Amino acid sequence: MGVKRVIVFDTTLRDGEQTPGVNFNSRDKLEIAYQLAKLGVDVIEAGFPAASNGDFEAVKNIADYVKGVTIAAMGRAVKEDIDRASSALKNAEKSRLHVFIATSDIHLQYKLKMTRDEVLKKAVEMVKYARGKFDEIEFSAEDASRTDWDFLVKVFSEVIDAGAHIINVPDTVGYAMPREYGELIRYIRNNVPNIDGVIISAHCHNDLGLAVANSLSAIENGATQVEVTVNGIGERAGNAAMEEVIMALNTRKDYFGLVHGINTKEIYNTSKLVSELTGIKLQPNKAIVGANAFRHQSGIHQHGVINNRLTYEIMRPEDIGVVPDTFALGKLSGRNAFELKVRQLGYNLSPGEISEAFRKFKDLADRKKTIVEEDIRFVVEETIEEFRSFREGEAWA
Ligand code: KIV
Ligand code: ZN
Repeated sequence: MGVKRVIVFDTTLRDGEQTPGVNFNSRDKLEIAYQLAKLGVDVIEAGFPAASNGDFEAVKNIADYVKGVTIAAMGRAVKEDIDRASSALKNAEKSRLHVFIATSDIHLQYKLKMTRDEVLKKAVEMVKYARGKFDEIEFSAEDASRTDWDFLVKVFSEVIDAGAHIINVPDTVGYAMPREYGELIRYIRNNVPNIDGVIISAHCHNDLGLAVANSLSAIENGATQVEVTVNGIGERAGNAAMEEVIMALNTRKDYFGLVHGINTKEIYNTSKLVSELTGIKLQPNKAIVGANAFRHQSGIHQHGVINNRLTYEIMRPEDIGVVPDTFALGKLSGRNAFELKVRQLGYNLSPGEISEAFRKFKDLADRKKTIVEEDIRFVVEETIEEFRSFREGEAWA
């Protein structure tokens, strides 16, 4: 048996666009889609064609031009949505319908006003209707994590019989705990009788900050597709962040033993592009792609990293395509990091000059919160100048 592969389904352009304040135009979507293809995702969920003419055009554009990757379009379990998705995806190299209906009692009672039997019938009917119009059909049971497990098993089993190739288990409101969500995935795997050959997909929201943990737990328990967004954008607190899921799988390959098709060296570029086009800046301590993700501030840490990066780094910035600016210099920094930075800036100081420049740097760092490259240059230049004047003075004496 070969190494198992995780399918990466990117929904930055659909669930990601549901981020409050985000509204991609067709050109933005196309640019992001090209970058996602370069990044190596398996599926790009390009949008919701029935939602607006603009989104129809955006999905169609992506299906027409972006090749080498499956293009998915979302639709409710109604014929009009399925027809819109089908015509938007007409020219896709490989097309996927992502059709959904809610299955939890809360959604049935207050949103759909339907019984369980009616929902089941609708789901089966619409999957049958979609059959033959797309290369693949993904069925999502919205609010799956708050759905009665046996009803969920029944729905999945019948939509698979009707023609679904992928079943998605959304934790729509980010309610599940990692062990619980993993157990649900395992329950589905063990109890849906016709599950063989069907892809089980995890789709996790981040309301309790657990979207990545839940996605990884799903993978451990048999999910073979993970739905993610770049920078974790999405409805409310967002979705599982692509870069975090992928780097967890990579960094702990020993633990997961899985492969995927992502070229991690494109992670940083993709993150930057999405941040620019959404206008959403990343918090500095954001895992993997935040400005501080690979920076070491304290002298003890800096000293360790200079001797061997493994002391305080579990990933290399180069792996995600970042040119490292490893040391954040400040009042806690040690002489080793300071000396390294001075050398990197092209100066070759004598031991005496280094000691004096370091003393000046510490004085400055006590007064100034953020030390930038210009500050280092300033103290170094000042020290060189003082030493030169002193030597000239001595020569005259
Ligand atoms: O969170 C969700 O349930 C979704 C769809 C898969 C319906 O985004
Ligand atoms: Zn979602």
